[in-house]
Amino acid sequence: MLLENTCEKSVLFAQPSILSALKIEQVPPNAKPFLRWVGGKSRLLNSILPYVPEKMNAYHEPFLGSGAMFFALRGRATKSYLSDLNAELVNAWTVVRDEPVAFVNKLVDYETRQGEVAYYEVRSEAPEHRVDRAARFFYLNQTAWNGLWRENRFGVFNVPFGARAFRGIKEDFLASVTASLRDVSIELTDFRQVAANAKKGDFCYFDPPYLPISDTSKFSGYNGKRFRFEDLVELSDLCKELSRRKVNWIVSNRDNEVMRELFSHARVISFTTRRSVAAQTKRHVQPKDSPEVIIVGGPNS
Ligand SMILES: C[S@@+](CC[C@H](N)C(=O)[O-])C[C@H]1O[C@@H](n2cnc3c(N)ncnc32)[C@H](O)[C@@H]1O
Repeated sequence: MLLENTCEKSVLFAQPSILSALKIEQVPPNAKPFLRWVGGKSRLLNSILPYVPEKMNAYHEPFLGSGAMFFALRGRATKSYLSDLNAELVNAWTVVRDEPVAFVNKLVDYETRQGEVAYYEVRSEAPEHRVDRAARFFYLNQTAWNGLWRENRFGVFNVPFGARAFRGIKEDFLASVTASLRDVSIELTDFRQVAANAKKGDFCYFDPPYLPISDTSKFSGYNGKRFRFEDLVELSDLCKELSRRKVNWIVSNRDNEVMRELFSHARVISFTTRRSVAAQTKRHVQPKDSPEVIIVGGPNS
């Protein structure tokens, strides 16, 4: 199969001599998400950021994904607590924070693993060491169809090839991501854990998976466990509790009656965006208008 954009400028795979000179603390922070992630909020930031408090103590983002909001807010919080329930995702974030040189060295192994056959080989592998797992995760994230991370109920990644070349990661970009993660807490944990940590003056951003439009929807979730209506009810209760504690918070989701009813205790703001959704043929995506909502709560709302 042909690879997309193979004629673009070549990969900036790290050379050992450059790696030894990588001085993370000297890199100016120009960081942004290093992963492709379905439901990533990069393109919606302009609609959400006006409602985010200018000042906050700690920042909590428990549905982390690619962390678009975290990168957009860099510097506003005294301390950031990031978490997600996808073990491979959280491992990759942790390795990028703690072992960027080992990570970029490992990516060199994937330089020659281009194309469909190599993709399915990598997909079938199950490395155990955290750095090897992070490199495989990053490779699959960059080359899978639509950047989708989907696992079956046994936790096995099952997304088809996306016909994209693997280009590695640019060292200076990786260094700026690593620099912005210094002192950041990254945990593999459920969103309910926020209840134990959030204090007055903190800000929480919740971007849970959208509930499937129908019960027959094939997308079974980012981590083998489906996010269900009952989870959304518990998120609404958690948000009520945060408001009582004078914690500011925002929830993003699809605009629908369920959301409006569940979050009638807070301020509901609707807007529309263009989203890429799966088309009839599995390999293609098409743009579609999507009604979005943010719910704003806490003392600033
Ligand atoms: C819509 S995505 C978040 C996208 C993110 N805002 C971004 O910009 O990339 C939802 C995330 O929630 C995670 N997730 C699903 N159920 C969860 C749960 N119960 N607790 C914590 N995270 C969960 C998924 O693994 C996924 O990464």
